[in-house]
Amino acid sequence: MHRPVDVIILAAGKGTRMKSAYPKVLQRLAGRPLLAHVIGMARGLSARCTVVVTGHGADVVEAALPGLADGLPWQAVRQEPQRGTGHAVQQAIPLLADDGITLVLCGDVPLTQPETLAALLAAQRAAGADALALLTVDLTDPHGYGRVVRDERGAVHAIVEEKDASDAQRRIQEVYSGILAAPTQRLRAWLSRLDDRNAQGEFYLTDVVKFAAADGVPVVAHRIDDPLQVAGVNTPAQLAALERAYQHRIAQMLMTQGVRLADPARLDIRGELVCGQDVEIDVNCVFEGRVVLGDGVRVGANCVIAHATVDAGAIIEPFTHIDGGAVGVSVGVQARVGPFARLRPGARLGPEVHIGNFVEVKNATLAAGAKANHLAYLGDATVGERVNYGAGSITANYDGARKHHTVIEADVHVGSNCVLVAPVTLGAGGTVGAGSTVTKDTPAGALTVARAKAVTVPNWRRPSKSAG
Ligand code: UD1
Ligand code: MG
Repeated sequence: MHRPVDVIILAAGKGTRMKSAYPKVLQRLAGRPLLAHVIGMARGLSARCTVVVTGHGADVVEAALPGLADGLPWQAVRQEPQRGTGHAVQQAIPLLADDGITLVLCGDVPLTQPETLAALLAAQRAAGADALALLTVDLTDPHGYGRVVRDERGAVHAIVEEKDASDAQRRIQEVYSGILAAPTQRLRAWLSRLDDRNAQGEFYLTDVVKFAAADGVPVVAHRIDDPLQVAGVNTPAQLAALERAYQHRIAQMLMTQGVRLADPARLDIRGELVCGQDVEIDVNCVFEGRVVLGDGVRVGANCVIAHATVDAGAIIEPFTHIDGGAVGVSVGVQARVGPFARLRPGARLGPEVHIGNFVEVKNATLAAGAKANHLAYLGDATVGERVNYGAGSITANYDGARKHHTVIEADVHVGSNCVLVAPVTLGAGGTVGAGSTVTKDTPAGALTVARAKAVTVPNWRRPSKSAG
């Protein structure tokens, strides 16, 4: 049995260079706060306990935590004032049991892969029960990072911060990522020996390395060559660069699965996109939350699709906006949506439904083959099979206080520019004449016209400016 893993996430730093009113760890990458990505790593490792160290913006970060933790057991501990990374871990370690392994993560390093962390923990185990394991990476420009100092036999014996490093040490390209794993009991003892006698007057977590080495405890470096996995966010430019790198990674993964992307550089996934076979996605599409695209689905350029399921063979034409919100949107097989359509929460389109330009659908179910092709609104409605819903027609679903339901039974034709004042039911197979305002249920199979009769005045002269 492996020892349980407890995670400490350092999130007390200020993030001055973001120039934001919000704490850095709540800035978004791929639509989610940086901290959510890091908490996701703890979840991926099935951490027994996760302690988030807060400081700057602690109230805001702690308020966000329940939403981010999503079932992961967590606690927050405050570090005030912020006296360095070692001081931060000193605040958290009393909350952890002696029998575990502590994994220290940084709240602003969002893209470390779960496999990398698993490998770091495996390296720790392999090096012995007491061992300290560091995640390190070789950088062509190591400036600003703690350097990994090795002895003549190659064993790690210290990490030296940039500001404390000698010229020779500054030339070392292997840097510490900010991520380490150690037996909690040992780490606790090393932390009690930290001091702040260094260039920054801080308690450096990295000093535990020299104590471990002095105690004769093995220090192992799990050395990776992917700088992205340890890249931290300090500036808006770095955040944007990481965003692009993340999106690139997702796009490559989708293409590996067979998804055809018109341009992998013009795609944004801010959540989870699940694709069947032969899915094609044109440029500049944004996907948010969980979106499932069935076999053969085609998504045109410039679509935004959130919280939705699109079944096999459906086509989403360009400039369509779909947002299922909390309840979702579903688009049936072979349906056709857009261009310029808007599907809102609770839109449920059956097979072969057509929704055309400037049509808005909200909390409405459309059965197979129903069509609303132009300039229309369907809200709080149940629409039967093969209904044809005319251009410019709307359901008047809101009386100023409550929402009401409209039922349009199978095979009804609603002419252009109709107002269906809910609650109302249009009987199966009926026709509603163009321009009707329908306030009462209409019978099945009949034609209903509810508009003023045309009046013709012969020889009518329009008023003119010259007359009289
Ligand atoms: C730290 C490491 C450095 C490493 C680098 C990797 C130390 C002393 N140095 O340096 O070796 O190469 O990360 O990115 O650990 N934090 C707190 N409380 C504090 C100070 C920081 O919670 O008092 C948090 C920050 O919010 C951040 C993390 O700790 O999430 C790292 O702090 P940062 O100031 O960025 O450390 P670096 O100087 O970059
Ligand atoms: Mg940093």
